[in-house]
Amino acid sequence: MCGIVGYVGAKFVDSVLMVGLERLEYRGYDSAGVATISNGELGFRKKAGKLKILDDNLKQSPLGGNIGIAHTRWATHGVPTEQNAHPHFDCKRVIAVAHNGIIENYTKLKEVLVNKGHVFISETDSEVIPHLIEENFNGDLKEAVLKSIAELDGSFALVILSEHQPDTIIAVRKKSPLVIGVGKDENLVASDESPILTHTNKMIYLEDGELALIKKDKVEVFDFTGKKIEKTVQEVDTKNEEFDKGKFDHFMQKEIFEQPEVIERILAERIGEDGLVHFKERKIKREFLAKVGKIIIQACGTSWHAALIGKFILEKYARIPTEVEISSEFRYRNPILVGDTLVMAISQSGETADTLAGIREAKAKFTKVWSFINVENSTIAKESDCAINMLAGPEIGVASTKAYTAQLMNLFLFTLYVARLKYSMSNEQVSAFALELKAIPNKIREILKQSEKIKIFAKEYAASPLMIFLGRGLNYPSALEGALKLKEISYMHAIGYPAGEFKHGPIALVDEKVGVVCVMPEGELFEKMISNVHEVKARKGKIIAIATEGDRRAAEVADSILYIPSCSEVLTPLLTVIPMQLFAYYIAIEKGCDVDRPRNLAKSVTVE
Ligand code: G6P
Repeated sequence: MCGIVGYVGAKFVDSVLMVGLERLEYRGYDSAGVATISNGELGFRKKAGKLKILDDNLKQSPLGGNIGIAHTRWATHGVPTEQNAHPHFDCKRVIAVAHNGIIENYTKLKEVLVNKGHVFISETDSEVIPHLIEENFNGDLKEAVLKSIAELDGSFALVILSEHQPDTIIAVRKKSPLVIGVGKDENLVASDESPILTHTNKMIYLEDGELALIKKDKVEVFDFTGKKIEKTVQEVDTKNEEFDKGKFDHFMQKEIFEQPEVIERILAERIGEDGLVHFKERKIKREFLAKVGKIIIQACGTSWHAALIGKFILEKYARIPTEVEISSEFRYRNPILVGDTLVMAISQSGETADTLAGIREAKAKFTKVWSFINVENSTIAKESDCAINMLAGPEIGVASTKAYTAQLMNLFLFTLYVARLKYSMSNEQVSAFALELKAIPNKIREILKQSEKIKIFAKEYAASPLMIFLGRGLNYPSALEGALKLKEISYMHAIGYPAGEFKHGPIALVDEKVGVVCVMPEGELFEKMISNVHEVKARKGKIIAIATEGDRRAAEVADSILYIPSCSEVLTPLLTVIPMQLFAYYIAIEKGCDVDRPRNLAKSVTVE
């Protein structure tokens, strides 16, 4: 995790770096720091806590200069204090380093450096880097950096600034992302494109094993042996405005309300005039997909919840046995991957370290990998055999919302695509299903109209000691996702459970103070859900039902009710999650939580 940014050019560097860090804050926000060179001297400022603290401080007394690096941290080694904040320095304070990743052999390196007389001031793994560079410096900074990184084990994206070469930022990439923005008489470097887009849309994507020398009018890239590499400059069409909250108070709120348009965009891209589904950019052969005998979907967090629903629909419509694994478990248990297995990875960021490790495990076993990602040039996109952009558009809020519904929609479309290849669905069936999908955006719009009502419920339940989310079948993962949203942004204790299993233990938690959200749209499992609701009511739990419009029986048993428009049971997860996203959002607001920057979390989890 952590976000890094660097700038060299004519603009006021403090301001460019702080605006850049704001865009990267989703990657971590425990502490932040900046280092710049002004009149040939390296200066720095670091603060524990949210970025605003550092920003206020710099506004009062800026560092100045036209070259600098900055960092926003998600703590791995060492608590979030000023001392542990980046950038870190060598003993003479002439070399500054900001690091994203983990140095696995830092204890050994630190011991050697301490024995040589280096003085460390932080508890971090990262601080070994500037000291190593200091140790290896012999008049040529690039050589010292190359020599030092050869000694590092682990993952690192680095930006390095030094009085030894005051017109240059050195950027290094190994297993953590780094992008260079190429401007006119100015250049930038950052963990992703978002801080760069304000200045330029021309990018150079560094690959693992590359080092760049970035000056204001020149970018040179080398491999780790020091050999020069020619890189292409790519123009991206992501718009700067997509990183703006617009009329909304929070990114999460904006992203919840954007969902109808996101789904329309996906459908417009994937459903052709023939009414069938197409993945034109697909890089895995149709013949292979037609004979796939098993799919293993691996993902983390919200993406794992989407995967659980993917299993239901792939088995039901494409008749492909499908397993779902949490990536951090999948990669360590030597999975059996036989010839006709397809591994699917789902990741909004395209950078999640565990999911990436799962992909590498699959590829090491010669298994094809199909990924759904939301960041075009991400590492997962590069390492998969076929990476499909889920087209949700940049998601900034740490709690995933529109990316989740986009993942679900992509899984529905993938299922229809493969079902046709396998002849488990006819063209007519696929077209009819696609038509139902096209009705989803307006149904979501109907649900969003209930936001004021949901706000009132949120006030009512904000003081509950515990919220329980129950669902069955396809809506069991919806219940998990409802509980996760609430935990993530409101810090309220919440659990998601399969409603039928609830009586085997967790029902002991229920009393009159506990709120129970029951996801119970019309369909095959509705009667079973009614029975489960009665079990909870008999123990005085307060019921919030998420039910189908006009459902009298749900209204009779519930203390509060939220409606979704009627639709086929299989599509209900695309709708039932919306009121739960809003419920979590309004509870967090009610409790005064920082919705877009919930404590202890980061959006892009690049550590294992
Ligand atoms: C983090 C985020 C979650 C996300 C998970 C997986 O924990 O806070 O919102 O679901 O990572 O991320 P990915 O980018 O792989 O979908």
